[in-house]
Amino acid sequence: MKINSISHICCIGAGYVGGPTMSVIADRCPDIEVTVIDINKDRIDAWNEKDLRKIPVYEPGLDEVLKRARGRNLFFSTAIEASIAKADIVFISVNTPIKSKGVGAGQASDIRWVEASARQVAKYAKGKTIVVEKSTLPVRTAAAIKSILETPNKNISEDESCQRFSVLSNPEFLAEGTAIKDLEEPDRVLIGGDDSSAIEALKSIYLRWVPKEQILCTNLWSSELSKLISNAFLAQRISSINAVSALCEVTGADVREVSKAIGADHRIGKKFLEAGPGFGGSCFKKDILNLVYLCNHFGLPEVASYWEQVIELNAWQQQRIYRTILHKLFGTVNGKKLAILGFAFKADTNDTRESPSLRIALDLLEEGALLSIHDPKVSEDKIFEDLNRNEAAWEGKWSYVKTISEAVIEADAVLILTDWKEYAELDWFDLAKKMRAPAWVFDTRSIVEPSQIKSAGLNFWRVGDGVN
Ligand code: UDX
Ligand code: ADP
Repeated sequence: MKINSISHICCIGAGYVGGPTMSVIADRCPDIEVTVIDINKDRIDAWNEKDLRKIPVYEPGLDEVLKRARGRNLFFSTAIEASIAKADIVFISVNTPIKSKGVGAGQASDIRWVEASARQVAKYAKGKTIVVEKSTLPVRTAAAIKSILETPNKNISEDESCQRFSVLSNPEFLAEGTAIKDLEEPDRVLIGGDDSSAIEALKSIYLRWVPKEQILCTNLWSSELSKLISNAFLAQRISSINAVSALCEVTGADVREVSKAIGADHRIGKKFLEAGPGFGGSCFKKDILNLVYLCNHFGLPEVASYWEQVIELNAWQQQRIYRTILHKLFGTVNGKKLAILGFAFKADTNDTRESPSLRIALDLLEEGALLSIHDPKVSEDKIFEDLNRNEAAWEGKWSYVKTISEAVIEADAVLILTDWKEYAELDWFDLAKKMRAPAWVFDTRSIVEPSQIKSAGLNFWRVGDGVN
């Protein structure tokens, strides 16, 4: 397919991936009009908010990018038909959650929103259009997209419809909380496909700010699979170090020292070796489950169970932290007030998908605990929605607090569950006075200084610490 120049880009899906990614593309390509569309009008309205504190995604640095690009060549809109019709490139960046019902329930990705997007593109696109998969997808989804796009369109002559679309895979590797930096200085950009002209057209966008050696071109399947495998490898490191954290606790070792020692070997490297309450986020669990499903599907049960263990260990880590809390508080939390610091799955995001904090909070509520929950960026409404999704209302059993001082009043324990920087800078002497003795601090993120907590007269537990 011959593409002359790219003047219009459309992105379907204004979520955690589509919003920031398109903002950076628009920022770097002022001559290209970029429109992000979504079926959710509230979300689009929120992206158009004048007050940048109200945009739907919290991401450091995003506000500055929006200030430059929004309204200039970056638009957020619900005008699906018109935006697709104008576009030379359509990115598909919609949600692909794990299926809750039917074949592959609990493992396979539900790609119904991807399919719906492909149908929208087939219906509204005009002229030659490059369709780019941005969402993380099960391997070979591009084939499904292709076959929808290639279905004859009765409004278009056979000649015209022939070679109208080219499908590329261009997975996004940004991590939430550092999305803007990851987009501006990516380790690599991956483009999978077999249409060299379409690949060159997409490449020409990234070449505006990414060195050419960092743009890797592969076949479609390698590209789709690389995304799943990248996430599986990262998650595997976390499960490995979390497994070691349990061993440290019973043997008198310190997981931070072990991480540092092994990470100093450049073959291992020091990143992604922080023990914690287990990984959360929308990708790791979903992608590994997908991988497991694929392996089973292709008759590789040994490979499937190898990867499945990464997920099982993660769930076990969350459970063992909850059990430790219970055990230290004399075996019961019934009627006790516990302060939860952090509800997001990691610092610097307002995303709570698969947050360890949510899992641990639900287990504690089940045991009769009373929770006061603090998070600098997650709203009370979001916490309400998350807690209520799993069980009938926990009304009266939890409260949302705006300040940490308020959270700890008469609390038996403080649970640090998200690594927000502000939790590393607390005045424990002051907080200890407000708590009910004997009070505990459980640091699942290793962000506070043990000596400060102990000298404030508080009991202390932290992950992977067999010394304190
Ligand atoms: C991940 C991948 O990093 C990214 O490349 C991909 O595009 C999407 O999935 P994300 O889930 O946004 O990104 O965040 P990430 O920084 O990878 O953290 C995931 C989870 O692992 C968080 O819950 C985090 O707290 C946890 N984590 C991370 C650890 O417990 N220990 C670590 O050492 C690193
Ligand atoms: P991600 O983290 O992958 O970006 P999100 O759930 O944050 O996922 O965002 C996906 C967005 O895609 C949602 O805002 C959803 O409304 C939108 N979406 C899903 N299907 C369609 C569709 N067919 N057309 C337009 N937008 C869609």
